[in-house]
Amino acid sequence: MDYQEIIEEVYHQVQNLNLKGNVATYIPELAEVDPKQFGIALVDLKGNVYGVGDYQVPFSIQSISKVHTLTMVFHKFDTQLWYRVNVEPSGNPFNSIAQLEYEKGIPRNLFINSGALVITDALCSKFERPTEQISDFINEISGKNCVNINQQVKNSEKSHGERNTALAYFLKSYKNFDNPVEEVLDVYFSHCAIEMNCVDLAKSFSFLANDGFSIFANRQILSESHARRVNAIMLTCGFYDEAGEFAYRVGMPGKSGVGGGVAAVMPHKFSIAVWSPELNEKGNSVKAIKALELLTDKLSFSLF
Ligand code: DON
Repeated sequence: MDYQEIIEEVYHQVQNLNLKGNVATYIPELAEVDPKQFGIALVDLKGNVYGVGDYQVPFSIQSISKVHTLTMVFHKFDTQLWYRVNVEPSGNPFNSIAQLEYEKGIPRNLFINSGALVITDALCSKFERPTEQISDFINEISGKNCVNINQQVKNSEKSHGERNTALAYFLKSYKNFDNPVEEVLDVYFSHCAIEMNCVDLAKSFSFLANDGFSIFANRQILSESHARRVNAIMLTCGFYDEAGEFAYRVGMPGKSGVGGGVAAVMPHKFSIAVWSPELNEKGNSVKAIKALELLTDKLSFSLF
């Protein structure tokens, strides 16, 4: 299988389609990014890297970091987590407030913002220096010191963070929030503002394609069964109200971010990161989704 040839073909095909979307503007700093950038990096389980386009340019990983924070807390809480957050697809926008009320303060899943805030709150209960330890963890599983928290992006989101602040206080009113809201929000905005390039991001997802073992950290990051479960949650919830569409068109567990990135895994084969800032109305990258759809078509395999 010549992965380099395949991702180059995919890259050129997607570029020729002239797809259009809009960059995220509710975090003003993200609106400053050149929308035409597009990169793909694929990492196989031996650690070989294949890349095309802007695959070495760092970008804001935003919600993709929710997979890293979940991984950090999963084995520390295990089944206890499921008293606080569910694993059902939401069918609603990622920042929905209404849903949290009729679900009585238990977020539908841990990738929508309310659920991710519960995870970051849980992380703050277990780690003394949460922001630093999230960076350390991602550096470890990508095999190098690649993480940079872009302070401008963080502050930009913080100063327009009314919705996440509302969600956090709403969770607190349901007693589903243990730590001070402002402290947890600061950690949350910090991990969303992490910048990485496609290569390092794909490497940081490699353990999920490899039954929980990271060849870059050279250790078991999650048990095989926990790794399988993270993949299941990515497949059903990783793209919010577009999760069904992504499973149908692409057939891989993956996670998107409003910075335009998508990280995905093909279990027992490879991990991949695709980035292009222009988003569809659901907040997912138009080109990244198309690229992954063409990729699984060309490979003639998906999870199914
Ligand atoms: O909390 C937010 O709204 C952003 N920091 C992250 C949202 C996000 O990436 C949704 N993904 N598609």
